[in-house]
Amino acid sequence: MTEIKTITAIAEDTLKGLSSNPKFLSSKYFYDEAGSKIFQDIMHMPEYYLTDCELEIFDQQKGSILNAFAQINGSFDLIELGAGDGYKTKVLLRHLLNQNTDFKYMPVDISEMALAEMANNLKEELPDLHVEAKAGDYFEMIKYINNSGSSAKIILFLGSNIGNYTWKESIDFFSQLKMQMQSHDRLFIGFDLKKDPRTILDAYNDPYGYTREFNLNLLRRLNNELGANFNTNNFRHHAVYEPISGAAKSYLVSLKEQKVDIEELETSFEFDAYEAIYMEMSQKYDLNMIHDLANISGFEVEQNFFDTKKYFVNSLWKLK
Ligand code: AVJ
Repeated sequence: MTEIKTITAIAEDTLKGLSSNPKFLSSKYFYDEAGSKIFQDIMHMPEYYLTDCELEIFDQQKGSILNAFAQINGSFDLIELGAGDGYKTKVLLRHLLNQNTDFKYMPVDISEMALAEMANNLKEELPDLHVEAKAGDYFEMIKYINNSGSSAKIILFLGSNIGNYTWKESIDFFSQLKMQMQSHDRLFIGFDLKKDPRTILDAYNDPYGYTREFNLNLLRRLNNELGANFNTNNFRHHAVYEPISGAAKSYLVSLKEQKVDIEELETSFEFDAYEAIYMEMSQKYDLNMIHDLANISGFEVEQNFFDTKKYFVNSLWKLK
């Protein structure tokens, strides 16, 4: 009898990434249980200004943000892509409830653990909130939006999650979202803006080593899930920021010549000394880029909401 082995997405993507030159791994696999915990530590450190800036925008401008949402008359679905632990969104949810707005909150995330935690927390803190949570990746999410019924939709994509995508991937993603939207629907997106390169580097090269652990954790995940034998002591986290393109990138650099076996893939990978694995892109934007991204994807920018330092923007888009 032939044994039929199903190859999981993480196995397939790992094989592809480590067979490539230069090598890469996908940051979408950062968020296993341990990785989601480390990301929460990252969000709470002062160097990771993104969380504080977006929270400040929500806190200080919730009135005008919800006014803009309220152009939709009647009930709507508030769909959050990549909701995570919902820490920031709570500010908006609470305010919507206080205004007696008729809406349903539909968080979607790749991490079931983060979602479960959030659902529990919301039940306690906002018992009147109607929540429908779903686990899945961004492209599964789009299908889910399509099936979510005929209610008006406000789609949230916060925290500069979009920054993990290349320019082309972002356009594909927004164009696909557009196909599920109607003229009264809105897209509300968080973008991290270009700023002092040192501020950006400090956020991705923190003194506590959380970002290092966040990256190394993916190697540990491959050890656990694919039977790999990465020795994390043999890799060093390296973050760079390129101020013209706005690309912040993370790498794990092999500190010596070494071979890593991956049982599940029935193969090994050779690393030269100082060969790097490209781990993550965290794109930073300026307003022209945001305008172009909206336009090319078939949207127009309706309103921008900035924090006081202008480090971050929440951009409200409607169909063109
Ligand atoms: C969740 C993708 C917005 O790129 O800033 C944080 C993830 N990586 N520190 C980001 C991350 C390193 C984060 N996003």
